[in-house]
Amino acid sequence: MRTEDDQWGITESVGVTALGVASGRAMETHRPDGLVHDPYAEAFVDAAAGEIRLPKGPEDARAMAAENGAAQDDGATEADWQEQSAYIGVRSRFFDDALTAATADGVRQVVLLAAGLDTRAQRLDWPADTVVYEVDQHGVLDFKDDVLAEQRATTAGGGARRVVVRVDLRHDWSAALREAGFDPGAPTAWLAEGLLPYLPAQAEIDLFDRIGELSAPGSHLAVEHFGDIVHHFGREDSRLASLSRRFGVDIRELFFADDRPDAAERLGELGWTVTGRSASELAESYGRPLDPELADVHGAAKLLDARR
Ligand SMILES: C[S@@+](CC[C@H](N)C(=O)[O-])C[C@H]1O[C@@H](n2cnc3c(N)ncnc32)[C@H](O)[C@@H]1O
Repeated sequence: MRTEDDQWGITESVGVTALGVASGRAMETHRPDGLVHDPYAEAFVDAAAGEIRLPKGPEDARAMAAENGAAQDDGATEADWQEQSAYIGVRSRFFDDALTAATADGVRQVVLLAAGLDTRAQRLDWPADTVVYEVDQHGVLDFKDDVLAEQRATTAGGGARRVVVRVDLRHDWSAALREAGFDPGAPTAWLAEGLLPYLPAQAEIDLFDRIGELSAPGSHLAVEHFGDIVHHFGREDSRLASLSRRFGVDIRELFFADDRPDAAERLGELGWTVTGRSASELAESYGRPLDPELADVHGAAKLLDARR
């Protein structure tokens, strides 16, 4: 159950979702037709394995599913793990492309909101002088920094500088970002991936207002949003329950399900030109269609690319 000012480490509450995404990227990295290649995702999964077991490749997924079957447990099947990583592959590719398009457009300041275990600072080929700010909670970023240091990870492209900002996105994060060196006079590429359902409605409203205040002309904003998916599927829905089991925590307890304006409409009102596609459409366009049984979930998940 969420509270107004709850904090977490990587193996607790919302922190676990960052590990779940890393597990998805690790699985996807093993696929010959993978939509993302993340050389560090496996190391994050390994580093937490003493407390939370998640698959880092197809063999793990098969073994874990077989153990569930042997124990007559109704936990995730191998197909569940693959479906989860396929979705992560689609959204990772979309946002990789959105950030690459922003730098091709001349943007040199990038802010990954709720960066979690996202390794784009290391993975993407950044032009010289790019600064990548990663905003998330202390516990998540401490774990990430430890693993990246063990891996001797460096930023890609030779020019990117990674700046970590430890702050809660329900607080005045813009002050913390400015203190870390962020320049509101320069165009920015923002990313909010896997974040909105974990924010209360007011924090989401404030988030978009603050982004607007900090966005110089020429800025880009990429957002994943699920519309009313939380209400639609409800807390008792068996598919959301199954999805939860894949992460080892009950995701339904982690969402703030209070009503909020539609993200795409709100961004339009704030002066952004928004284009967006559903995860299903994107997956088709990448030649990697998602599970038709989850068509309503993947149809509701929208990946937005906004410019101002
Ligand atoms: C599903 S993960 C996504 C991580 C990353 N964007 C990715 O796609 O790999 C959700 C992330 O949001 C972060 N998060 C959620 N609410 C937050 C808040 N109020 N303040 C800071 N970070 C938050 C969590 O710590 C976690 O890292």
